Amino acid sequence: MTTDFVGAEHEFHSKEFALGWAERFVPTPERLRLFELILSQLEETLPADGSIVELGIGPGYLANFLLQRMPKISYCGIDFSLPMLEIAQKRLQKFTSRVKYIQVDLVEDSWEERVSKPSHAIVSTWALHDLGSSENIDTVYRRSYGILANNGILINGDFIKPVGALQKFEGGRFYVAKHLELLGKVGFSNASCLSLFEEEMENPTASQNYACIRADKSR
Ligand SMILES: C[S@@+](CC[C@H](N)C(=O)[O-])C[C@H]1O[C@@H](n2cnc3c(N)ncnc32)[C@H](O)[C@@H]1O
Repeated sequence: MTTDFVGAEHEFHSKEFALGWAERFVPTPERLRLFELILSQLEETLPADGSIVELGIGPGYLANFLLQRMPKISYCGIDFSLPMLEIAQKRLQKFTSRVKYIQVDLVEDSWEERVSKPSHAIVSTWALHDLGSSENIDTVYRRSYGILANNGILINGDFIKPVGALQKFEGGRFYVAKHLELLGKVGFSNASCLSLFEEEMENPTASQNYACIRADKSR
């Protein structure tokens, strides 16, 4: 069967849906490759006891990976879904003293004041496309720039529309070039795509075609 629309419907506020999502999307080797790439960027840039904010922490898979591998960092997980935050909290129990959670809507609420500063890095995977449009992602990029320390970095590993794809993609999935343009417009420098994952042009599913995008807040 071929697809002519790439996107997905979610009910992140439902406990049952959140539990089911977390079970379906236990990180695969490809997604772990994305996590490793994010880790390598953070290790190059952050002080050992730096602080990281994750947008759309979901079940806490990336957080668990980073907190294990970076034993002195502190972490702030943001999500609007209480069930997802509860799943993350359970997974991250052994890191309690290093983790803070904030329940807000990334688009509707102003969360900037609630994040501990300075934030040395903002990370996100598979989440910002769920904001539904490039305008909403622009808003979140702008807020992210505002809370980052000088020399901080933003890394977004999210679904994109691959160049040349013929299908229609949901509004939050768009070309890498558009992400780089938005990041540049809000003040980031060196915005670039570090890697593409699970590229599929012919018959893509909603969990293929994601990019790792990095941008720097230079002094
Ligand atoms: C597809 S899941 C990805 C979870 C996790 N980042 C991962 O890679 O496993 C997207 C997450 O973003 C959260 N999310 C979606 N829209 C949001 C919004 N407007 N504000 C805050 N969180 C949001 C959802 O609740 C969900 O936990």
